[in-house]
Amino acid sequence: MLKNFWYALEFADKVTREPRKVTCLGQDFVLYRTRAGAPVCLSDLCVHRGGALSMGTVTDDCIACPYHGWQYDPDGACVKIPANSAERSIPRKARVDAYPTQERYGMVWAFLGDLPEEERPPIPVIPEHDDSSFKAVQFEMEVNANYERTFENVVDAAHTPFVHGTAFGNPDKPQIPDFRIRQTEWSAEADIDLSPPPPGGLWGMLYKRKVRPEFVTVTNAWYLPNIVKLHIRLPIGDMLLYDFNIPLSQDRTLIKILGYRNFFTGGWADGNTRKRIEKILLQDRPVVESQRPELLPFDLSDELHVRSDGLQVAYRRRRLELIKQGWWVGGDDIITGDGPRRTATVLPSPSRRDNPELASAWVHKARTGGDPR
Ligand code: FES
Ligand SMILES: [Fe+2]
Repeated sequence: MLKNFWYALEFADKVTREPRKVTCLGQDFVLYRTRAGAPVCLSDLCVHRGGALSMGTVTDDCIACPYHGWQYDPDGACVKIPANSAERSIPRKARVDAYPTQERYGMVWAFLGDLPEEERPPIPVIPEHDDSSFKAVQFEMEVNANYERTFENVVDAAHTPFVHGTAFGNPDKPQIPDFRIRQTEWSAEADIDLSPPPPGGLWGMLYKRKVRPEFVTVTNAWYLPNIVKLHIRLPIGDMLLYDFNIPLSQDRTLIKILGYRNFFTGGWADGNTRKRIEKILLQDRPVVESQRPELLPFDLSDELHVRSDGLQVAYRRRRLELIKQGWWVGGDDIITGDGPRRTATVLPSPSRRDNPELASAWVHKARTGGDPR
C-alpha cells in the first residue's frame, strides 16, 4: 500500500456535520465538515485511550471523543480536556494527525502522507465530471481481495472474454491486438480494440438502429495510487468508469466507482447503469477473491507476464520505484483491523512537519514504510 498520495475516501454527499468513519491503508479516519462546509480528515484514534473519534460529536468546528470528551480542532490539536480544571494547560502532545483534504469530482480526498504541498503527486483529472453532456452515477462494493488485485483486474483486457463472457468480452475473439502504452510519472493508458457482441436490454434496443462496428476501442488506464479508468466507446455513446480501489486492509477492498455516460442521460437510466456496473463487478469478484498469492508479488518474475499484460507490468515497475523511495506501508506496519496489538502506529501527516517541536514526541508513532523485503 502506498502512502504520500491523495486518496478519494468518500462520496462528498456522505460527508456531513455528523462524524463518519472511513478506512484506508489499514487505518481508520474520521471525516466531518466544519460549519463553513470544509471537509476535515483526522486519525480516528484519540491519543488519550484510543477512543474512536468517529463515535463522538461535532461541535462548532471541533470533534469530541466519545470516551472522555477531549475536543480536537480541524488541525488535530486538542483544545479541551473536560476532566482538567480550567487553569490546567493542555499538553502539546495532545494532538492527532490531521490530513489535508480536497473536494473534487463529488469525492472527498485526503492526502495520506507527510509530503509538503509542492511535492505531492496530483489528483487525476476527470474531464467528464464537468462536461454537461455526461451523466454520472456512483456505485460501491466491498471485495475480499487485495486492492492491487482488483486494480490490475480492471486494466487487464485479456480477462474480459472469459470472466465477462458476452457482457463486454467476446469468447470467440480473445486475442488482444498489440497496443502502445502512454505513460507518465503517475499514470499509464492504452487504447485497445476489442470486439464485443452487442449489448442486451435497454442499450441493445438503441444498438439495433446503429451499424455494428467490428471493433470497439476501449481505453484502459491506471492512475496512482489506486484508480483505474475504463473508457468504452460504444456506437451509442461513451461510457467511462473510474474505479477507486480503496485498501481497507491487506485483503479487503472497497471499490467506489464514478460512472459517466453521454447517452440515456436522464436520471431514469441511472438504475440501469448501476445494474450493469454491479453485474461486471459480481463477475470479477469471485475471480479476484480466489487469486493466490493474495498479495501482489514484488518480484516481477514471481508471475508470468505476456504481451497483453503490459499495463500491469508498467504498474509493477513503477510501484517498485516508489517502494525504493520509502512510500510503501504494509506487513507488520498495519494498525487497525488486523487483530489485537499493544501499540498503534499511524500514517505520518504533514502536521508532524508543521509541529517540529514535537518531533519524536507524538503519542502514536509514524509507520516506518521503506523496503518491505
Ligand atoms: S479516549 Fe478519547 S478522551 Fe479519553
Ligand atoms: Fe473484469
